[in-house]
Amino acid sequence: MGRIVVVTGASNGIGRSIAARFAACGDDVVITGRRPAQLERTADELGARGVVCDNTEPAQVAALAAGLGPAVHVLVNNAGGNTDFDRDESGDGTGTAWLERLAASWRANLEANLISAVLTTEAIAGLMPPGGSVISIGSIGAERGAGSYGAAKAALAAWNVGASADLGPRGITANVISAGYIEGTGFFRGRLTDTRRDTLIAAAHDKRPGQVEDIAETAFFLASPGARHLTAQLIHVNGGAFPTR
Ligand SMILES: NC(=O)c1ccc[n+]([C@@H]2O[C@H](COP(=O)([O-])OP(=O)(O)OC[C@H]3O[C@@H](n4cnc5c(N)ncnc54)[C@H](OP(=O)(O)O)[C@@H]3O)[C@@H](O)[C@H]2O)c1
Repeated sequence: MGRIVVVTGASNGIGRSIAARFAACGDDVVITGRRPAQLERTADELGARGVVCDNTEPAQVAALAAGLGPAVHVLVNNAGGNTDFDRDESGDGTGTAWLERLAASWRANLEANLISAVLTTEAIAGLMPPGGSVISIGSIGAERGAGSYGAAKAALAAWNVGASADLGPRGITANVISAGYIEGTGFFRGRLTDTRRDTLIAAAHDKRPGQVEDIAETAFFLASPGARHLTAQLIHVNGGAFPTR
């Protein structure tokens, strides 16, 4: 379709699948990631342009935006993940050192999942013409507690409402896709036990794990002409694991 599509954090997992979906229909896709070799490999495989960028870093996001244009039609804020998987859990829960570690771990998840989207949208939205779409990847964790990760994804959804109000008068939509358990990504860093996986699948009404394509197809629809009156929304893609009415 000849659009310029930017997908953050697309070296693998959900972002890669989203980038592939847009590339397959003829869009020019730009992907970001922090690991150069992985990014380059994926960019080559997809026929996309890879830009090494940590989307939590203002200078790197500014450089990314400066190399785009003249227009960006679709921005997918996918970069993120649960940085608590890296957290040092040791400590007695009291004292300055413990609180400093706690503050650092909360800030890390807010940086990874909220600030990355805020910065990237702010940097790129000025390049978006009417008909543009901002899509951010949230999580069912926002509905479940899930500590600093869930809080960061809940904040992402709250931020999105304001982004939609800001961008709407220009004909640009802003939505969040809240993903349930999606298999085949690097999200769990190999720490998902079989028991936990079975529990996640059992919670879904369709009794299957989510696939990266489930999210990619939803993102593709949100960027389509049929979704122009759909903005400021949180779209749950979780097989019914978190129902709404
Ligand atoms: N898988 C699930 O079950 C699930 C469920 C709900 C929501 N999500 C959300 O879906 C999104 C994608 O996750 P995933 O499951 O596909 O995990 P993944 O396989 O680990 O992919 C994450 C990608 O983001 C990149 N990335 C991480 N931080 C970045 C940063 N600051 N700047 C640029 N790139 C960054 C990573 O590459 P580099 O390390 O090279 O930067 C990687 O390519 C995340 O926002 C995650 O929270 C996932």
